[in-house]
Amino acid sequence: MADEFAKLRQLQESDPEQFSRLIRELSSKNIRPHSGQQLVLDSKARFRVMNCGRRWGKTVLAAKEAIAACRKAKQMVWWVAPTYRITKRGYEEILRQLPEGVLAKPAPPSSNFDAGRAVILHFKNGTKLEFFSAERPEGMLGAAVDFCVMDEAAIMPSRIWNQVVSPTLIDHLGSALMISTPRGRNWFYDVWLKGQNAEEKDWASWTFTTQDNPTLPEGEADRMALDLPQMEADQEIYAKWIAAGSSVFILDERVIERRAVYENGLVEGREQLSGVVFLGVDLARTNDFTVMYGTAEKDRRNVYFERMNSIAWAEQRRRIKRAVRRLMRAGAEHVMLMVDEGNAGSVIVEDLEEAGFDVVGVNFTTHKSNMVRLLANDLERGKAFVLDECLNEFTDYAMTQTANGRMQYSAPDNRHDDVVSAKMLSHWGCVNEGMGDVQVITTEAQGDDQYVDPWDESDEDDFGDLLDPELDSNLEEDIEAAHQIGLDEPSRLTPNQLAARGWF
Ligand SMILES: Nc1ncnc2c1ncn2[C@@H]1O[C@H](COP(=O)(O)OP(=O)(O)O)[C@@H](O)[C@H]1O
Ligand SMILES: [Mg+2]
Repeated sequence: MADEFAKLRQLQESDPEQFSRLIRELSSKNIRPHSGQQLVLDSKARFRVMNCGRRWGKTVLAAKEAIAACRKAKQMVWWVAPTYRITKRGYEEILRQLPEGVLAKPAPPSSNFDAGRAVILHFKNGTKLEFFSAERPEGMLGAAVDFCVMDEAAIMPSRIWNQVVSPTLIDHLGSALMISTPRGRNWFYDVWLKGQNAEEKDWASWTFTTQDNPTLPEGEADRMALDLPQMEADQEIYAKWIAAGSSVFILDERVIERRAVYENGLVEGREQLSGVVFLGVDLARTNDFTVMYGTAEKDRRNVYFERMNSIAWAEQRRRIKRAVRRLMRAGAEHVMLMVDEGNAGSVIVEDLEEAGFDVVGVNFTTHKSNMVRLLANDLERGKAFVLDECLNEFTDYAMTQTANGRMQYSAPDNRHDDVVSAKMLSHWGCVNEGMGDVQVITTEAQGDDQYVDPWDESDEDDFGDLLDPELDSNLEEDIEAAHQIGLDEPSRLTPNQLAARGWF
């Protein structure tokens, strides 16, 4: 030993670069388990279930165990992960830890996973280590497996364990290590519960938080938690089993604005505006409501709220126009409309743009979870506010997780979420489209000029009840078009129906 140290010291002096490369290699190959990992390594249970926060060291530990299993001759070892991408990460960790000279054939390049191909490592002792993605379980058949790792198990459908992996462990009394960040109370929760049950002798299970990994830089786990909405941090960092239907928005009193909303949509005490207002518009599509929710960019305070029952597009468009005008008259320098452009909404965005509005189309379907998380996060940190109008829509808004562990957010069945959607659009605009601290410098006149409005026949601020189709020339065109395609009641058509008929 002393001899080897002397040699190392010599190398350090003669070739420092080579020396540090060697040290890096030695220390990366030889993982020294931290105390939580050691507990799992010491367990003799046939089925071990580890429920841990992100970056606890699950993959590192599982790779160490998989390599240990490959020391025995003529074994069949499997590594299964939810996607090729995650499988690839495990494969690279294995290659990193793999001792020199144990493979019978060179390790295939990890780019195989990018092409959706399974990869096999052949060991000199006849053992095989096979890597699979749950995206393609067809290849995982017919083998008698001695040891199987399921990395990020909670993100895989239950049948991967029940119907694919578990049966292969029968012949050789094989064992399994299931490791994951939790995804609600799905099948992974069930197997974890088995591990907690003293009567299930074959099973053992643990829970660790991200903070339990002492190798992460100081404060890193706490920082990660701070970046996430509470519910997600509970799951991702603290490895808690979040029940389906848990509320997404945590509203404490300081972010609830208990202010009257006037009939004209403006908010009590906010009659004098300045700066940019982001007006989130959630359009009624079928039987629901159209909601406009306005947030002032500079202090994120709510300045406008209007909710109306499903009405024809021509009327909705006029109400949008009225809202913009009211905000401008109250002193807003600019009003940016935030509109859902998914679900045939792009025609609506174009139509509003043509009418001279400044519109940002957001694909709600694509961005919804990010929008939910942003609003939830900012509400928790006092960086966003909600009016006490329809507050129940916020408190009802819930998270569910799909079988594949994807988080979904929505109002419970049959309940409205148009107020939440409008506020999310508005807040998303403030954060992503806002100009930050930059002051928008415009004169009054320029401010007005920004809204060249083709339907602006009069200067009136209010459009009465807006329900008389004769007043609306566009509606006449709609009626004309409706007659041509044999429809009776064009004045009640919603944006979706109009878009479907290519009317914009
Ligand atoms: N025993 C250990 N020794 C050194 N570093 C470790 C150890 N366990 C985990 N790590 C480090 O912690 C980080 C997270 O590990 P990883 O296995 O990818 O976490 P997880 O799979 O839980 O997200 C990585 O940077 C990894 O190198
Ligand atoms: Mg991992």
